[in-house]
Amino acid sequence: MQQQTVQQHTRLGREFLPGCNLTQLTEQQVTQFKQSLWEHGVIVLRQQHLTASQLKEFAIATFGDSTLGRYTRPIDPEIDPDLQSPGVSILGNPKMHTTEIRGKFAWEWHHDKDHLPKTEGMDMNTLYVVMLYGVEIPPEGIDGKPHTTEFLDMVEAYNNLSREHQQQLEQTSMHHLSPFFPKPGSDVPMKLHPIVSTHKVTGKKGLYLGSDTSIRVGMEEKLEEAKLFWQELFETVLERTPVYAHVWQPGDIVFWDNSQVMHAGTPYDANKYRRIALRVGVVDKTST
Ligand SMILES: [Fe+2]
Repeated sequence: MQQQTVQQHTRLGREFLPGCNLTQLTEQQVTQFKQSLWEHGVIVLRQQHLTASQLKEFAIATFGDSTLGRYTRPIDPEIDPDLQSPGVSILGNPKMHTTEIRGKFAWEWHHDKDHLPKTEGMDMNTLYVVMLYGVEIPPEGIDGKPHTTEFLDMVEAYNNLSREHQQQLEQTSMHHLSPFFPKPGSDVPMKLHPIVSTHKVTGKKGLYLGSDTSIRVGMEEKLEEAKLFWQELFETVLERTPVYAHVWQPGDIVFWDNSQVMHAGTPYDANKYRRIALRVGVVDKTST
């Protein structure tokens, strides 16, 4: 599959207020922060020093409380208590002596709100923001290049399709499955979402593809065909739309809007390096 990767993107990855401290933003700056996130899809704050609780408090104060996607582990005595708080996930391999990597499944392209199907009362167009705080960053990925997280601009992806293809896709929807119940066809919750989705705040059209377990309407009984449809569509997107790779520095917090971007983590050698990243996901209850 052809893929063009860039480290500078016209829209994604804008740095917000260089030199600011996330815990000390004024009300007006928080409003600007949200506007910037909706406008750019992915924004970055650099050189932050936070505890897990402070990251979570910012998420709740800014977007509203939500338990979506939160799972709680008991406090781990081998990990710095400042990095632990209920509802904040620790990704990577925080314990030096183990090479077990948490969150490995995230190396495939996906939207983090693919788990919405198992949440009652929320439609697939709900705004779901993820914040990922890089505490310790491996100096290189498995390919010897800088450690990155990759993003695809799904508004740009829609705009890059031919008018005819856009019109075809606008007439159909896909069923989305929770990644925690990955077997299509089994008796698990699914939710319908138009392939061409309109953003709740910006009103811009973009593609929402979910993952390769998503099933196009009309293909419910033809799962092989559904998978092929998804793979061909995603391949077309990847051929035409450059991938933005965020190069991590310790202290970066990357925020992304899952209604506008897909993302994929990239592998690193856990025998050589440690990675610690704190993740908070939150439903936005303030914009709609
Ligand atoms: Fe993810």
